[in-house]
Amino acid sequence: MRTPLLAGNWKMNKTHLEAIHFVEQLGHELGAHDPRKVEVVLCPPATALRSVQTTLDDRHQTFGLGAQNMHFEDSGAFTGEVSPLMLTALHVKYVILGHSERRQMFGDTNETVNQKVRAAFAHGLVPIMCCGETDMERTNEHTEARVEGQVREGLAGLTEAQAGQVVVAYEPIWAIGTGKTATPEDAQTTISFIRGVLTDLFSDDVAGGIRILYGGSMKAGNAASLVRQTDIDGGLIGGASLDAGEFAAMVKAVAGES
Ligand code: 13P
Repeated sequence: MRTPLLAGNWKMNKTHLEAIHFVEQLGHELGAHDPRKVEVVLCPPATALRSVQTTLDDRHQTFGLGAQNMHFEDSGAFTGEVSPLMLTALHVKYVILGHSERRQMFGDTNETVNQKVRAAFAHGLVPIMCCGETDMERTNEHTEARVEGQVREGLAGLTEAQAGQVVVAYEPIWAIGTGKTATPEDAQTTISFIRGVLTDLFSDDVAGGIRILYGGSMKAGNAASLVRQTDIDGGLIGGASLDAGEFAAMVKAVAGES
C-alpha cells in the first residue's frame, strides 16, 4: 500500500513570518489530520525551514518538512548553497531534487541530480526526484525518452533499500504554473511508464512500493481525479500550496473527506 503524499513546493514565496502563519492556518483547517490517509509535506524556502520546523513541533503537527534543493557536499566553499547536514540538523525529512526550474535556470543536470540523490540517502534524507518533458518534447513525442533518461541517470547507483524509499515526481514542464493540467489519463500513462522503468532498474517489488507524484497546475478541484489513477500516488503542488484553505481542501479531497 502506497500512502498518498501531497507536497507543497512554495518555491521562492513566503517570508519566515508568513510561513509560520501558514502552518497555523493549515493546522486549523485540517484539525486532527490523519497522516496514514494522506501524508502532507511542506517545502518552504531555506530561510523559513527553521521557523516551520519549530512551529510544527510546538503545535504537534504531523506535516513533514522538506527542502527545495541542496548541495551534495557536506560543507565547503560553495557560496549560497545549503548542505544535507544543515537540513538534517533542522529535522528536514524530504528534499526536492532536480526540479525543472533548477534544471532550466540553475544548471542542474542528471549527473548533479544523481550526486544530490546519493548524498541525500547518505544523510537519511528522502529525495523527491523530479522529471518531466518540455512542450516541444511532448509535441515531438519525446516524453518517454526524456523521462526515462532523467529517471535512469538520476537514480543510478541506488541500492534496492534506498530505491524503495525514493519519491519520484513527474512534472510536465508545460503544465507548471500555466493552468494547463495533464489529463488524469495522460498523467497515468506517463507515470505507469515511469513505474516500468523503475521495475527494469530495480525490481517489480521495489517499483511497486515507490511513490510517484504528479505535478503541474494541481489544485483542490482536480487533485482527487488525478490521485485516483492506479499509478499516481499524490502531488507536488506549487501555486495552490501557497493558500492554506486551498491546500487543506486538496488534502481533504484526496483523503476522500469532501
Ligand atoms: P504549479 O502547481 O504552480 O503548476 O507548480 C508545480 C510545480 O512545479 C511543483 O513543484
